[in-house]
Amino acid sequence: MYIHRSIASLRAALSTTGRIAFAPTMGNLHEGHLSLMRSARAHGDIVVSSIFVNRLQFGPNEDFDRYPRSFDSDCALLEAVGVDHLFAPNESELYPQPQRYNVAPAVEHDAILEGAYRPGHFRGVATVVAKLFNIVQPDTALLGKKDYQQLMIIRNMVRELNMPVDVVGCPTVRSEDGLALSSRNQYLNASQRREAPRLYRLLAGIAASIRSGGCILSELEQSGLDTLKEHGWMPDYVAIRRQEDLGEPAPGDPLIVLAAARLGSTRLIDNIEIE
Ligand code: PAF
Repeated sequence: MYIHRSIASLRAALSTTGRIAFAPTMGNLHEGHLSLMRSARAHGDIVVSSIFVNRLQFGPNEDFDRYPRSFDSDCALLEAVGVDHLFAPNESELYPQPQRYNVAPAVEHDAILEGAYRPGHFRGVATVVAKLFNIVQPDTALLGKKDYQQLMIIRNMVRELNMPVDVVGCPTVRSEDGLALSSRNQYLNASQRREAPRLYRLLAGIAASIRSGGCILSELEQSGLDTLKEHGWMPDYVAIRRQEDLGEPAPGDPLIVLAAARLGSTRLIDNIEIE
């Protein structure tokens, strides 16, 4: 695997022909990321990943400084899974000056759910992903469905800005007890880790109730919030939305149930699509 610290080095290496499949990350890789790399191999001749902890997408009180960084072990994992090129720029390479030109997602996609609790987050994500797409020029980009709103926003960005990238959403990878894999899981202490799979079980229960029919969505959302609170969580939302754009659902829309909640100081998110 070639490791590129500069845009020039990556561009020179990718100037050969072949379909490029790209999976961007912020590092601290786990099996969820590695599943993106395996999908990338199925979509491209050349597999490119990136590791860049993007300051722009962290709020002032968020965990940018303590976000787990594990570059050497990440490289070993990427190499083992067959990634061809890793782009790992320093901040000064990607942001040589303060970023003045930014990609602002549509308000109706940005101001809801995660965006309502993390103002500016998706603007930071869209901006860095647009920059990475311009640098890597992938044919296909692989992103995890765990960050469903991020995936929806990147799909829409690509469509509305006519970027020639096929965006593929990959299934969430879970521990045996159902907890969605996330770099932030390592912030949980032992008792929080035992409690954490409740979030998935709650979503799975709501999904099952919707599939069996005859329930009122707002009541399911409220009882989800109540359950989390009873077990010591501080929920931000439990929301049943339409899959396409995470708007309020109309009858017949394919649905998704999403939740975000804090367990101690760790904020976890998860979702389940309902067929
Ligand atoms: O999902 C992530 O890891 C990040 O938001 C991304 C897409 C790499 C942009 O920094």
